[in-house]
Amino acid sequence: PETGCLSIIVLGASGDLAKKKTFPALFNLYRQGFLQSNEVHIFGYARTKISDQELRDRIQGYLPRGNDGEEDVSNFLLLIKYVSGSYDAPEGFQALDKAISEHEFSRNSTEGSSRRLFYLALPPSVYPPVCKMIKSYCMNKSDLGGWTRIVVEKPFGKDLASAEELSSQIGELFDEPQIYRIDHYLGKELVQNLLVLRFANRLFLPLWNRDNIANVQIVFREDFGTEGRGGYFDQYGIIRDIIQNHLLQVLCLVAMEKPVSLKPEHIRDEKVKVLQSVLPMKDEEVVLGQYEGYKDDPTVPDNSNTPTFATMVLHIHNERWEGVPFILKAGKALNSRKAEIRVQFKDVPGDIFKCQKQGRNEFVIRLQPSEAIYMKLTVKQPGLEMSTAQSELDLSYRQRYQGVVIPEAYERLILDTIKGDQQHFVRRDELKAAWEIFTPLLHRIDKGEFKSLPYKPGSRGPAEADQLLEKVGYVQTHGY
Ligand code: BG6
Repeated sequence: PETGCLSIIVLGASGDLAKKKTFPALFNLYRQGFLQSNEVHIFGYARTKISDQELRDRIQGYLPRGNDGEEDVSNFLLLIKYVSGSYDAPEGFQALDKAISEHEFSRNSTEGSSRRLFYLALPPSVYPPVCKMIKSYCMNKSDLGGWTRIVVEKPFGKDLASAEELSSQIGELFDEPQIYRIDHYLGKELVQNLLVLRFANRLFLPLWNRDNIANVQIVFREDFGTEGRGGYFDQYGIIRDIIQNHLLQVLCLVAMEKPVSLKPEHIRDEKVKVLQSVLPMKDEEVVLGQYEGYKDDPTVPDNSNTPTFATMVLHIHNERWEGVPFILKAGKALNSRKAEIRVQFKDVPGDIFKCQKQGRNEFVIRLQPSEAIYMKLTVKQPGLEMSTAQSELDLSYRQRYQGVVIPEAYERLILDTIKGDQQHFVRRDELKAAWEIFTPLLHRIDKGEFKSLPYKPGSRGPAEADQLLEKVGYVQTHGY
């Protein structure tokens, strides 16, 4: 592992993302010994003029407490310093560089490289000026080696053209290996398990194709609405917020061919091929919805057509998947909170039991809550009669891995950025291909040419979405 001074700079330090996700993830890494006090310093940067202590006070309530009391929390907070400044003028960044350099000098006067990680917990509109300022004033200058990396969050653009523009602006300043585009779904335990499940189990290898799989569903549901984020959300909508990134990344891992190796570039090469094989969507295979009450939020315009729900069918034009519908479904203010992948197999040919109506084989990966992997099977109902029923082979993480703490997605991904592992980050060409899929539909929605249907908060979403699923061949199963 690399040694030497590590400076982690959180830009947008007083914002929601930093408080709720970035600092708690850093704290967990610290607590587990991944950030050593003698090497690491954390800097918060934002426009608000506050003191180090005021930033610490703001953060501390969000840090997850373990059994080891408050001591860890206070030691962690002592690692944090704050610098204020604007996002587009030199002074603040010069002050930031000075603060980082002082820390490097104090820790690093004898040996070791210096590593600078800039985490942009900021809206994308300020990425270009901020990157420019970092490039001009804050790069690692140590003769002893090291690096400068930047981490950026979604939404990375609003459509193909804006994303490409953002990519080229940043690309002029930093090389691809320095840029970490976070999609936190790639940090989830069961998303990371997908490659292992698919490529380390002989069981699945011959089955994972159009001959055996009837359809694949990737579903995200939340049982709450936009809650205070209406202003942000209304400019983006559920497709840009969840589907174009989180669900599409999962689709790539479900559908991609086996990579040559586990090297990040090999994996990302295969993901890009999947995205490039997706056919244009058909109007009749898209259902949009907006929950009733969404527009009560004062920051949402009265005539908003922004979807808070969408179900759509993607088709992958290749040898493995031709004819298999990939259903992506996401919604806010629905009846439950759940994210899962459902791979539904075809009916058994020449069925002799005449009771297949009970359901098909289904392989389900539940990302959250309560991580689980289960397989729906038809079995003999125990008893004297020869009747069949659906049951499950069930790997519930809570039972199987009792006492094992599953790391938070952000924690894992930040550690990867420190290690320089880009496997779970989105490459520029992936991002482009992802926007290519959705941009035509998004433009039509923005122009009001594609209407969002109303649905009741706490429901399953518009009934038309269930009808679409049935139309493309999804068979509702019983049980789980
Ligand atoms: C974010 C979206 O990227 O993901 C939010 O902007 C959404 O709208 C969140 O609530 C869901 O993340 P998770 O990890 O709770 O599924």
